[in-house]
Formats: sequence, structure tokens, C-alpha cells
Amino acid sequence: MNINREEFLHKLSGGLAATCVACMAAACSKDESVTPATGSNPTGNTAGTTVNLDSELKNINDFVAKSSTIVIRTASGNAITSFLAFSSVCPHAGATVEYNNSTSSFFCAAHGSSFSGNGALVQGPATKGLTKLTIEITGSTLTVKA
Ligand code: FES
Repeated sequence: MNINREEFLHKLSGGLAATCVACMAAACSKDESVTPATGSNPTGNTAGTTVNLDSELKNINDFVAKSSTIVIRTASGNAITSFLAFSSVCPHAGATVEYNNSTSSFFCAAHGSSFSGNGALVQGPATKGLTKLTIEITGSTLTVKA
């Protein structure tokens, strides 16, 4: 097959343009896939999670993350006001949020949302803060109510 220089360049540029469009479309697409919270409590139903205060949460800023719940000690003593509890299910798309006790903040690695130590939204794409949970304390057992 013989083609002249002009035809060759025309075919080459058309192929490159199609390739570039495909590359740009792939680069601009945002991966919104998420691995939702899993484990023993994938629905995020947190009621009933317990913490043994004789062995856990002994120091201020200690935290426990389990069963889609994060419980943080914010003050000494075993009063209800000495703790904060949140659902660890990210309000954006359901991935698991992690607590950083050195910065007293929460971060969701799925898409980068961050939250302050009281669960308030700092940066999206989430549009609201973490769900705060109520607790009760009986003896040395802290129980997350909902
Ligand atoms: S699931 Fe998207 S930021 Fe958390």
C-alpha cells in the first residue's frame, strides 16, 4: 500500500488525537469507588459496642476503634462527659474513618474527607460531620448506645 506524505500525516494525527482524548477522559475521571465498612458490623449499627475501662482508655486521648465505632477519652475519670463516641462510617460514601490521636482529628482515606476532634466536617467531599453516638457507663463498662 502506497500513501503519500500528506495522507500518512493525516492518518497519524487522527490516531494520536483519538488516543489523547481517551487518555484525557481516563485522567479526568474521578475514582469514587469505596470499600464500605466491613467486618462484624458492616451496616454501621453501633449499639452495644462495649469498652472495658479497667483495661482500655486509661489515658486522655486514648481511643478504641471497633465495630464501626471510635470512642475517645477526653478527660480523666469515668464520667460520661470524659468520653466522645462516633460512628466510624464516613458520611460521604461509607468508608471507615480513622482517628489520629496526635492531631485529635479524623481522616477518611477513601476520598480525603477530614473531621475535627469533635466530629465536625473540616474538609469534603463529605458534606456533614461524623455521627456522634451516646454512651452509658455501668461500673467499669462503657457501652455505646446508638
Ligand atoms: S467515603 Fe469518601 S471521603 Fe470518606
